[in-house]
Amino acid sequence: MCGIVGYIGQRDSVPIILDSLARLEYRGYDSAGIAVINEQGLRGSKSVGKLARLVSLLHDDPLHGSIGLGHTRWATHGRPNDVNAHPHLDCSGSIAVVHNGIIENYAELRERLKAQGHRFVSETDTEVISHLIESHDKGDVVEAVRRTLAELRGAFGLGVISSKDPSRLIFARNGASPLIVGVGENEMFVASDIPALLQYTRETVVIQEGEMVVVGSDGYKLTSFEGAPIERKALRITWNAAQAEKSGYKHFMLKEIFEQPSVVKETLAGRIDEDYDVRLEPELGSIDDELLRSISKICITGCGTAYHAGMVGMYLLRSLVGLPVEMELASEFRYGDPVVDPATLVLAISQSGETADTIEAAKIAKGRGATLLGVCNVVGSHLTRLDDGTLYTRGGPEIGVAATKTYTAQVTAMILAALHLARVRGTVPPQRLREIARATSLLPAAVDVVLNESDRIKRIARTMSEAQSVLFLGRYINYPTALEGALKLKEISYIHAEGYAAGEMKHGPIALLDRRTPVVAVVTSGHVREKILSNVAEAKAREAPIICVAHADDADVADIADEIIPVPRVDPLLAPIVNVAPLQLLAYHIADFKGCDVDQPRNLAKTVTVE
Ligand code: F6R
Repeated sequence: MCGIVGYIGQRDSVPIILDSLARLEYRGYDSAGIAVINEQGLRGSKSVGKLARLVSLLHDDPLHGSIGLGHTRWATHGRPNDVNAHPHLDCSGSIAVVHNGIIENYAELRERLKAQGHRFVSETDTEVISHLIESHDKGDVVEAVRRTLAELRGAFGLGVISSKDPSRLIFARNGASPLIVGVGENEMFVASDIPALLQYTRETVVIQEGEMVVVGSDGYKLTSFEGAPIERKALRITWNAAQAEKSGYKHFMLKEIFEQPSVVKETLAGRIDEDYDVRLEPELGSIDDELLRSISKICITGCGTAYHAGMVGMYLLRSLVGLPVEMELASEFRYGDPVVDPATLVLAISQSGETADTIEAAKIAKGRGATLLGVCNVVGSHLTRLDDGTLYTRGGPEIGVAATKTYTAQVTAMILAALHLARVRGTVPPQRLREIARATSLLPAAVDVVLNESDRIKRIARTMSEAQSVLFLGRYINYPTALEGALKLKEISYIHAEGYAAGEMKHGPIALLDRRTPVVAVVTSGHVREKILSNVAEAKAREAPIICVAHADDADVADIADEIIPVPRVDPLLAPIVNVAPLQLLAYHIADFKGCDVDQPRNLAKTVTVE
């Protein structure tokens, strides 16, 4: 989605803004722009296409100024082109606005402003904001922004500069459009995502819904839209700049796949005690043992990859806690009359903590009295402010658009949550829980073993890169593994892929199979191993090339598979963490062979802050 950055200080803002925008490229965008204030007034440049195009424009026609705004746009209203790129100006050319989100009442505002003589040049909803500020500007731009905010409907994050008041930047947030102020020494930074700030500062202030911040080079003033002062101290983030670098890997996605052993380790750290009991009490806020003993149902929600992690959680919780567990996509949950009540524990899973559908689902759950547990990777994000307790995944910044290490971290969090609940509710003998917890602590080493198969997977990927369509099969707790494998492949390689519960094959998808349609099946140990082996045999009988994620010593798999990607034997309940890594690598190598833009696949955004 759109990226916003701002700078005010003693340095030239242009290189800082361009560097910060480059760090937001991963979020997906189609045009970029910048506006600065200098002795000549407000000056800017913008261009459709990648940031490199803007950089080359600025090379030919340089800009300077110690206060500025930058933007990467992901088109909603109006095509991606130079004119629709942000920043957008008012008639006088003294006010510049960058915006993320949607202004729902822009059409009516635009008509009114046109009738007052304002001239519009773009097709965007954003342009009404600069004109509206101009119409309210009686010499105090902050007041004019305040009046403008009172008239805007929709979810937005926006940034404003005015050459009539060149000593401050103004930002406002309504809804799921993150904005973070970075506090420096006599300089201040603002960005819509943390990786854009990490080069400059780790002291951050998260702007929340309904808040406005006026930023000068020596500090910031936070208020409500109406002007009521808000005190919030800066929070030091633990992520560092190196985590947001490629560190010698060809792509961020590959680096992030290889970070998984350490991410699992980090997510487990301090949460399993020396007796192998999982103890999450200190982190879960008001979700204490008594509350957990009183719930009668669990409901899990999220989008995309986070949804798949939730599905693994569903199987774990059913198996270990024995409560009814429902799973629903957040985009369906919000419109599907969800049956949740004060006796329901709702788990909302989101890497970013800003996904619009997940946030809305979480609000609905809260509104119906449910207890909300957020599973999230970003400290201070929207979800973590709504929930009753947050179980943080400790994945660090994920730059590749395709989620990999954060999925593994989410599944790790699901294992922890299930072990914690099972202990508190006494649903599984403590010895068995400790056995699983001990096996969990060995997972980082098991994932490492799988990653060593990267070359073999690359060889298989070369053949598969010719395929038009690929079917991924799994059952039970590895059904979500199959879904995730298919999602990874389609989003980065643009090859059609479907994940299926293997038992469902003969109810339809088997019709797709022929010798040109590879089938990737997850056939590891557990009570469904023989069942899925039969399903794979059915696919083999239709001449589909068979690739199995399986144990190296499984003779039955060796008989049937054309290719085997070996994975170590772990407790079947923990296998999704080990089994997903080869599927991530398979998708990565296929996309790389095809020459796809692995880290920034077409049409996709890292964080989906619109419905
Ligand atoms: C796929 C992917 C997406 C996200 C989804 C939810 O690789 O990254 O499917 O998982 O958009 O995002 P979060 O977890 O930020 O809510």
